[in-house]
Amino acid sequence: MKKVAFITGGTGGLGLTIVQDLLERGYEVVSISRDAARIEGAKKLVASEKAVFLKGDITTEEALSDVYHYLLDRYGYVNVLINNVGIMAGGGIEQITKEQWQHMFDVNVHVPFRVTKKLLRLIKHAEYGCVVNISSIASKITGGCMAYSACKAAVDMMTQSLAKELAKYYIRVNSVNPGMINTGFQVKNQLIEHFEYEEFLEETAKEYPMGIGTAADVSKLVCYLISEEARWITGSNYVIDGGRSVNL
Ligand SMILES: NC(=O)c1ccc[n+]([C@@H]2O[C@H](COP(=O)([O-])OP(=O)(O)OC[C@H]3O[C@@H](n4cnc5c(N)ncnc54)[C@H](OP(=O)(O)O)[C@@H]3O)[C@@H](O)[C@H]2O)c1
Repeated sequence: MKKVAFITGGTGGLGLTIVQDLLERGYEVVSISRDAARIEGAKKLVASEKAVFLKGDITTEEALSDVYHYLLDRYGYVNVLINNVGIMAGGGIEQITKEQWQHMFDVNVHVPFRVTKKLLRLIKHAEYGCVVNISSIASKITGGCMAYSACKAAVDMMTQSLAKELAKYYIRVNSVNPGMINTGFQVKNQLIEHFEYEEFLEETAKEYPMGIGTAADVSKLVCYLISEEARWITGSNYVIDGGRSVNL
């Protein structure tokens, strides 16, 4: 049977690397993201008929319904769900607005909840099923971004609760909690300007005993977690951060 994976946000940063690694491992991969130019770029880069890049905003019911029907009609099941889309806002209680707080939870917490709930029936139809939630070390250590940390902590506990609930279907659920990787995340989330990025990476790297990581570092862990070799691993939140969270 074909191995089928669905990932939210497969056209940039970590998501695109995961798409490439999944293709290398024989998966057919479906992704959804918003920007048409980035979709074209990703299509060209991966150059594979086994990758499908749907266009849509996964925070909307319409996009989620499109994803569900696409996967149902084309395959009828999904082996691997990777909840990757995430956004970041900086600041603590005195800076963050209630609208920002709400938006952060809409994208970072409600999306993985809604996607998992909607696709669960398709995952249950697969020969084996795994969910990987892309969380962050921000769920474990404070770092001046209260809403982001709170969202990712919610993702970690959702991961653990789901793992317990879905074990009876042999569906494994884990999260991956990266430290900073060089995807330009802080630029895309307008926390810094593009021209400041290299300097920002250098400064931040001082807090990382093994330096800043890459999307490839994190993607390898995701691929391990969905592999048969990880068949007994469920309900874990895997920190991958070059030692950042033990360097306090
Ligand atoms: N980069 C880091 O340092 C870091 C560290 C720890 C954890 N993480 C986590 O890793 C995950 C990926 O981060 P990244 O750095 O790879 O992010 P990224 O480079 O900003 O990529 C995000 C991807 O998601 C898509 N996307 C964003 N909003 C969307 C929406 N509403 N609907 C559909 N697609 C959407 C983007 O495409 P469009 O914009 O075209 O929609 C893009 O493909 C996030 O959950 C993040 O919190 C990142």
